[in-house]
Amino acid sequence: MRGDSGRFRSRREFLIGAAAAAAAGCGTPLLPLACAQSGSKTRQGAMAPTLNDVSGLRSLRAHGAAHGLLVGCAVNPDHLDGEPDYARTVAEQASIVVPENAMKWAALRPNATQYDFRKADDIVVFALSHEQKVRGHNLCWHEALPSWFAGTVTKENAAQYLTQHIRTVAGRFAGKLHSWDVVNEAIDVKDGRPDGLRNSPWLELIGPSYIELAFRTAREADGTALLTYNDYGIELDTPEQIDKRGQVMMLVRRLQARGVPIDAVGIQSHLSAGDVPGDGLIHFIRELRAMNLQVFVTEMDVNDRKLAEPVAERDAGVAKTYRDYLTPVLAEPNVTVALTWGITDRYTWLNGLQHASRADGKPERPLPFDYDYNPKPAFFAERDSIDGRPGQALPGADHYAPFNPTQPQRPQQ
Ligand code: G3I
Repeated sequence: MRGDSGRFRSRREFLIGAAAAAAAGCGTPLLPLACAQSGSKTRQGAMAPTLNDVSGLRSLRAHGAAHGLLVGCAVNPDHLDGEPDYARTVAEQASIVVPENAMKWAALRPNATQYDFRKADDIVVFALSHEQKVRGHNLCWHEALPSWFAGTVTKENAAQYLTQHIRTVAGRFAGKLHSWDVVNEAIDVKDGRPDGLRNSPWLELIGPSYIELAFRTAREADGTALLTYNDYGIELDTPEQIDKRGQVMMLVRRLQARGVPIDAVGIQSHLSAGDVPGDGLIHFIRELRAMNLQVFVTEMDVNDRKLAEPVAERDAGVAKTYRDYLTPVLAEPNVTVALTWGITDRYTWLNGLQHASRADGKPERPLPFDYDYNPKPAFFAERDSIDGRPGQALPGADHYAPFNPTQPQRPQQ
């Protein structure tokens, strides 16, 4: 829609952008053209916001606050510290953040006896200074384990390592975090177990009780954080995902039946362009509500691997998937948090080496902002989906950008 080299170069590009946004069905009313391009003054003399200006009233966090939803993204402390555009975009758009990697075992545990909290602390300090909540990710996972783990942790000491880690990490941030992914991705139906559990190092070393042990220890260490079970591949109504979702539901039921403290389920939502959730996911979310559990969209992004150029059509396809997925999901009252796995296409794991990439070798565009921190059609699709949510304003609506849905947005006056 625009060269990633910055602002609209020409009226034609603006119109192309507008067309793409329209194609993506962005309900967002476009500002009068003159305003958008020239940054001219409104009748009240204030600087009319440009189309790219989605800060303050127009931000995801303001719209979320008005609809009882925490909205945010995964963050990397190096960029928060080193890149003003990145820090500004995260500060303006997110009412909640989650460390993409800084709170994982690999990042926190340089060796078996020490902890390094510097990066994790940086994120918490940034968030607190921008009135953002923080999710912890994660206390127990089969990946991102430090290199010393395999040679050190045995059947004899694994439970001690797990509980000591949780006590130390969750204890350190006790009372400061919104929620913790206590156990991440413990289900893998392909491993063929009746309980659907993944053959992870934790299962091999401790047995199925490692999940209960992790949740109970997390509750002891932090009495306020919402304890979450987080997983992927449970969003769609494909046979495999229906099966996995069923196993996740049975795991949560088993934990509740044993009185294990669990408050929420995280649905990662790593989607491909064209994915549309079926009734199964909504039914799953409503069943969790009946079990008094919250649901978080924890890691949303939409890979555009299968979409052909031009960029405007790729972005329109990605935006349509954001809209088709978030509109029904965010309409559910027990869905209280929505995060994307990153905020800008400049930094996404999908362009990392380990991941299948586009046949044309072009970088993926899975997130709400483009490489130059311009809002994409996906941004407007996410914001419109938030606006469609029948939620009440969060208590003490985010004064970072007070927003009253009954008041027309000032810029449109
Ligand atoms: O920090 C080291 C650095 O010191 C080293 O030089 C470099 C080169 O090897 O690796 C760096 O670690 C990398 C780390 O990201 C930080 O950049 C790891 O190799 C790399 O595997 C790791 O990838 C992360 C992956 O989880 C595994 O932890 C991705 O960034 C992150 O986006 C991804 O996120 C996961 C969620 O946690 C769970 N759900 C799926 C999601 C996507 O896979």
